[in-house]
Amino acid sequence: SVERTLVLIKPDALRRGLVGEILGRFERKGLTIDAMVLRTMDAALADRHYADHVEKPFYPPLKDFMTSGPLVALVLSGDSAIDVVRVLVGSTDGRKAAAGTIRGDLSLSNRENLVHASDSPESSAREIGLWFPELV
Ligand code: CMP
Repeated sequence: SVERTLVLIKPDALRRGLVGEILGRFERKGLTIDAMVLRTMDAALADRHYADHVEKPFYPPLKDFMTSGPLVALVLSGDSAIDVVRVLVGSTDGRKAAAGTIRGDLSLSNRENLVHASDSPESSAREIGLWFPELV
């Protein structure tokens, strides 16, 4: 069935000039862009977006990275979009992600891994509410 998922194209992707490459992969797959904005995350939004991670040891440097410059936030929709996007993105650690995925092809880092994507219907609803309240 048709789902929506929240994607962040992270600051490393903007610094590296990879926004078009990444958006193109989503578009060529057949996903629909329902909303999109260029925005810089502030500390409060980082803490809300990553509520599940704020206590983890990797969170302080993750927060510094995610607030370090503009990112592109978007909502993608399509059949099984949540899982489809996660397959396209690949596993968290770019050093281990499968070739053919965005992270596997383009990232060599566990933190600067180019893209965030919602991992479940619950997180998708929560994250779309945070970034695009007008869509909810
Ligand atoms: P993301 O999908 O945005 O969800 C949480 C983010 O935390 C993840 O991508 C990485 O950017 C980062 N992350 C997760 N685990 C680690 C880790 N062990 N070390 C550093 N960064 C991590």
